[in-house]
Amino acid sequence: MTGSGGETLSNLLHEERRFPPPPELADAANATAADYARADADRLAFWAEAAGRLEWARPFDEVLDWSRAPFARWFTGGRLNAAYNCLDRHVAAGLGERVAFHWEGEPGDTRTITYAELTAEVCRAANALRALGVRTGDRVAVYMPMIPETVVAMLACARIGAPHTVVFGGFSADALRGRILDCDAHVVITADGGYRRGKPSALKPAVDEAVRECPDVRSVLVVRRTGQEVDWTDGRDVWWHDLVDAQPAEHEAEAFDSEHPLYIMYTSGTTARPKGILHTTGGYLTQVAWSHWAVFDVKPDRDVFWTAADIGWVTGHSYIVYGPLANGVTSVMYEGTPDTPHQGRWWELVEKYRVSILYCAPTAIRTFMKWGADVPAQFDLSSLRLLGSVGEPINPEAWVWYRRYIGSERCPVVDTWWQTETGAQMISPLPGVSVCKPGSALRPLPGIAADVVDDTGTPVPDGAGGYLVLTEPWPGMLRTIWGDEQRYVDTYWSRFPGLYFAGDGAKKDEDGDIWLLGRVDDVMNVSGHRISTTEVESALVSHPRVAEAAVVGAADPTTGQGVVAFVILRGDGAAPGTDGSAGADEVAAELRSHVAREIGPIARPRQILLVAELPKTRSGKIMRRLLRDVAENRALGDVTTLTDSSVMDEIRERLPSGGTGSAAGGAGAEEA
Ligand code: WT7
Repeated sequence: MTGSGGETLSNLLHEERRFPPPPELADAANATAADYARADADRLAFWAEAAGRLEWARPFDEVLDWSRAPFARWFTGGRLNAAYNCLDRHVAAGLGERVAFHWEGEPGDTRTITYAELTAEVCRAANALRALGVRTGDRVAVYMPMIPETVVAMLACARIGAPHTVVFGGFSADALRGRILDCDAHVVITADGGYRRGKPSALKPAVDEAVRECPDVRSVLVVRRTGQEVDWTDGRDVWWHDLVDAQPAEHEAEAFDSEHPLYIMYTSGTTARPKGILHTTGGYLTQVAWSHWAVFDVKPDRDVFWTAADIGWVTGHSYIVYGPLANGVTSVMYEGTPDTPHQGRWWELVEKYRVSILYCAPTAIRTFMKWGADVPAQFDLSSLRLLGSVGEPINPEAWVWYRRYIGSERCPVVDTWWQTETGAQMISPLPGVSVCKPGSALRPLPGIAADVVDDTGTPVPDGAGGYLVLTEPWPGMLRTIWGDEQRYVDTYWSRFPGLYFAGDGAKKDEDGDIWLLGRVDDVMNVSGHRISTTEVESALVSHPRVAEAAVVGAADPTTGQGVVAFVILRGDGAAPGTDGSAGADEVAAELRSHVAREIGPIARPRQILLVAELPKTRSGKIMRRLLRDVAENRALGDVTTLTDSSVMDEIRERLPSGGTGSAAGGAGAEEA
């Protein structure tokens, strides 16, 4: 798998821009350079101290038990309740009147929920789950829109020690059924529907269909959100407002073992059966609380924090629910899509709630680039002081755009690398310490150990690329794949013995800072050079006309693989060929030369297709596998996880007949 140059993954793109922390932020920063030093000196002592951010009903005996590696136990002997840590203790500390959530529905309805109110509601819901016969250890499936009851449902489960499995509301009945069966949930919490794109979008019918073949599901608890018609199965279905509202608002939170399961989050990966990623209580809560406090520099008494992601993903679990609430922070939660009823909706919310910290995905940022900078310019974004990114490599140009047009050149941007499996942020700048480089997540956070290795598991030198690995266990790590210990070992711990293999390509630059280069399954091999899709995409996005790009390697008779790029132009640039400006062929030719100039002729795309949309998963990741199918003129593989399958039809229409022919009228990478 090693390229002709001897490298595991070529290091092509160079980025010279540097952004030191703003002095006022650095002066008052929660986390400082001393945190790196302390963690380097004694990693476990560092995490033991971080665990002090929580209230333990019984102190732990040992920080880490790694004797059954790769099965970890953190804070052994310790006992705590996650919901108590997110709620009751803040109320007891006199913060009951602090707002936990400013919630905004897509139609514009709003709810302001204080810590005291959230605590009472979670107690009622915990009592309701008990009334439905849910015992400690039982799994509860949650299939909900982005409404406050979703948070309440999760915390009520946590409160009684019943691990939740939240299934993203955009998933089908089939996907829901598979997950319910895999973790053997007997109770499902759902809603009649939620608002998406200006209209009610039903959820209950998918639950009805899913549980038809789940004989063990005995109760479906239904929140009324949209008021739409629902089918009702007497004896099984229960309205939330009938059952929960009637419960007492007091509930004694029992303390559970630190390793008690907190939740299961299914992640599909590239193939096959979804994996039920298991997170437990003490270690997970410690790391999400610490990272939320350190990476976002949150000041709980003044910041307004907003993770603009769905609770159905791990980002929502860790940085809408558990992290912010453990830290007693005020958050914004928004139900709907960014362009309903207009493309400035997010910025309107930032202005309205005076959001100071915003966390979102590169796919959203690139969409805003496509819509144009004049949209956010119509709103007062002066409350923002820090911006975060997660989910995919952020192209340097998107990073710079985010900092300039959303952050007014004032806000640091933290690019945070982590996974469903890691539970919490792992590689990221610290905003008061790090000199940021657009597109780099920089280095492991204090207490985290990561490296980039070659095929043999040997660390690569600075300036070289390879595979990202985690070299020491961490508190928020997955404990196993639900019901399949062997798959846990095989998937994460077998590629490089003793190391956790993340599945991502990465490089270390001359300073030893880490740049994420995309999933290793996506790496292209052109004339024996292993080229990362991320670097070519970033080169394309650095052209002023480009908003978004997806690059794949397609079989090529001469070079092994040829680089094929699918490109979306920016909203403020006119569509090619419609206004007397450059036509599609000219734009493509210009972009091909641009890539060659930016990173070298080896990476020059063989072919560039201008498209209107890219195929994405529901969490916003580009599905390069499908684009490879198109580029190689094959029938499409599995499209069930695609947000909008019509996207692929449109892309196919753009393809010149002959498929793999050279649309941009140029030779391939052999020019190199
Ligand atoms: C994969 C994990 C982490 C919560 C959301 C995604 C990619 C994530 C970054 C980043 C480059 C990133 C990786 C990773 N990824 N963050 N900052 N830079 N790549 O969780 O769905 O489990 O996906 O997302 O490929 O392995 P997930």
